[in-house]
Amino acid sequence: MDSYKLLITGGIPLMGETYVSGGKNTSVAVIAATLLSDEICVLENLPDIEDVHVLIDILRDLGAQVEYQPEARRLTVDPRGVNSCKVPYRQSQRMRASYYMLGALLGKFGQAEVGYPGGCSIGARPVDQHLKAFRAMGAEVKERGAKITAKGKMVGNSVVFDRITVGGTINAMLAAARAEGNTVLYNAAREPHVVDLANFLNSMGCRVKGAGTDTIRITGQKKLHGSTYTVIPDQIETGTLMIAAAATRGDVVIHGCIPTHMESLTAKLLEMGVAVSDMDDAIRVRTVRGHRAVNIKTQEYPGFPTDLQQPMSAMLTRASGDSVVIETIFESRFKHLMEMRRMGAQVQILDQTAIIQGVSELYGAPVTATDLRAGAALVIAGLMANGVTEIYEPGYIERGYEHIEEKLRALGADIRREPLEEG
Ligand code: EPZ
Repeated sequence: MDSYKLLITGGIPLMGETYVSGGKNTSVAVIAATLLSDEICVLENLPDIEDVHVLIDILRDLGAQVEYQPEARRLTVDPRGVNSCKVPYRQSQRMRASYYMLGALLGKFGQAEVGYPGGCSIGARPVDQHLKAFRAMGAEVKERGAKITAKGKMVGNSVVFDRITVGGTINAMLAAARAEGNTVLYNAAREPHVVDLANFLNSMGCRVKGAGTDTIRITGQKKLHGSTYTVIPDQIETGTLMIAAAATRGDVVIHGCIPTHMESLTAKLLEMGVAVSDMDDAIRVRTVRGHRAVNIKTQEYPGFPTDLQQPMSAMLTRASGDSVVIETIFESRFKHLMEMRRMGAQVQILDQTAIIQGVSELYGAPVTATDLRAGAALVIAGLMANGVTEIYEPGYIERGYEHIEEKLRALGADIRREPLEEG
């Protein structure tokens, strides 16, 4: 249980300029990929967030030499001292992306033992497609107790994913990067972080083609050299800030983002009546009139991202009319809306569909974050509500948003921490 809660006094339109940090989901993939190198790698623009800290702990436990400069957003990894292929459960359950250690260790050393991954509780989240890809490349994979062990020389092969999986695609790319011969991944995920990982692997001398389409071809290399690489800005943080600006009827310019990654969200905001203007690497969001209700269906990239469904559905609770939100990726991603009922939100939830009847006012109430994006959604709810919202378990938010409280305060938000009383 977190030792503090967040207090937000809502009703203040966010105004001003802000910036986006490096991508969480790209950083966790690229950090794991440094293990594949035979030389030192330097990663730039990493966000200073809990998930990055956990992976650094894991790299150090494996024997890598790691220098982390959070203020410079820089991580230097020398993987030459790695002397273990085991990530124990106590480490792996601290985050979801610990499963990338399977692909990276298997790719480099032909063996890996990794405890089951943890991460946000948003559904069952099986890893069968990851394991299927490892097996196709020649690994013998066992799931016993709370760990997965995989062993075998990686040999390139074709893998047809039964469903689109970001983690499965990335893990297969990691395992294939040093495999003997060619690997072809069909029905691959097309998310920006898949492309970023491909670019990083290519910068180390790998040959990855087709990332960003549904067919990725990887020619494995015997050796991979060191690289200095800058990770892309966080698509989901950009979207969260865009929604926060719109939801508070504010006017915010978000610098350092990639507007083309935001097209599905931008289209929905425009449909709601929000003004969105794209610049080269910035987006301005402002509300010029009331918001109309819209329907959302989450899909793989380039569709509407599940990670923005929660912030977006929080905003829709105050749109004019009824919105239907269908969550197709994860089973259990509406817990924030259940919490928001206490703030006056009118919501019906039927399995993976939420029907939201917009209300003219939300009011502050105590609510609990149950996962990272639920936490972000509740922050947005608090910013919209009249009165004071207390958010319990805000530590989830730190796992994925760098300095979010400071960024929001700089835009005028009244958000602060308060220690929890003992007992
Ligand atoms: C990644 O999770 C992200 N996490 C998630 O970010 C994001 O919500 C998700 O992709 C979808 O975009 C990281 O990048 C670390 P998937 P991942 O494999 O890889 C099912 C956030 O808030 N599936 O694309 O776990 C799975 O259960 C988060 O930042 C299988 O059935 O997602 C889900 O229903 C949370 N078998 C769907 O596929 C498998 O082997 C998509 O999952 C793998 C997945």
